[in-house]
Amino acid sequence: MNETVIIQAPAVYQKIQEASSAMQFNLASDVYTGSLLKTLAASKPSGRFLELGTGTGLATAWIVAGLDVNSRLVTIENNELLIDVARRYIRDTRVDFLLADGYEWLKNYAGEKFDFIFADAMPGKYDLFDEAIAILNKGGLYIIDDMLKQPNWPEGHDLKVHDFVARLEKRTDLLITQMNWSTGIIIAVKK
Ligand SMILES: C[S@@+](CC[C@H](N)C(=O)[O-])C[C@H]1O[C@@H](n2cnc3c(N)ncnc32)[C@H](O)[C@@H]1O
Repeated sequence: MNETVIIQAPAVYQKIQEASSAMQFNLASDVYTGSLLKTLAASKPSGRFLELGTGTGLATAWIVAGLDVNSRLVTIENNELLIDVARRYIRDTRVDFLLADGYEWLKNYAGEKFDFIFADAMPGKYDLFDEAIAILNKGGLYIIDDMLKQPNWPEGHDLKVHDFVARLEKRTDLLITQMNWSTGIIIAVKK
């Protein structure tokens, strides 16, 4: 096995990456997280998917690559310039791009629950975590990356991460695995 070999990247990946570099958007998840998202997405046929923090759509493209025809993805971003890149390159009727504040959206959401949440922004991860888990179905996947110390972490972020992981570990309704993969992944499944 060579875990660094990442296959079956989404067709639009390269184009979105070029657009992201041109905008100097450097907060995207890497290909290792992307590949894992795609694989896990495929485990939820006819699933309801949520991404918090679309950015320019790099992780979105990987998730979409794992969706079956009946699945639906809602992806939320509060920066219009960024989400417009995702909209431009990911033309897929299964995806609903929402330009919205994740905090407001999570506080007010009263629709159907989700089978898969990729929480890649403050709301739904470090903030409003309980609200995010509340809209996850039983057996649903909650996935986060960037949990191992990274060179771009701001001062004090490691403490925040430490406290958040301790909080996750205390949840009796979640089964979690912490993985030394990509930037550090945690996968939680709701019981
Ligand atoms: C880590 S980046 C997302 C990267 C993207 N998922 C990817 O892998 O390419 C976090 C994103 O969350 C967005 N964001 C930050 N605060 C937000 C909020 N309150 N509501 C919605 N999006 C927010 C940022 O603009 C940024 O694009």
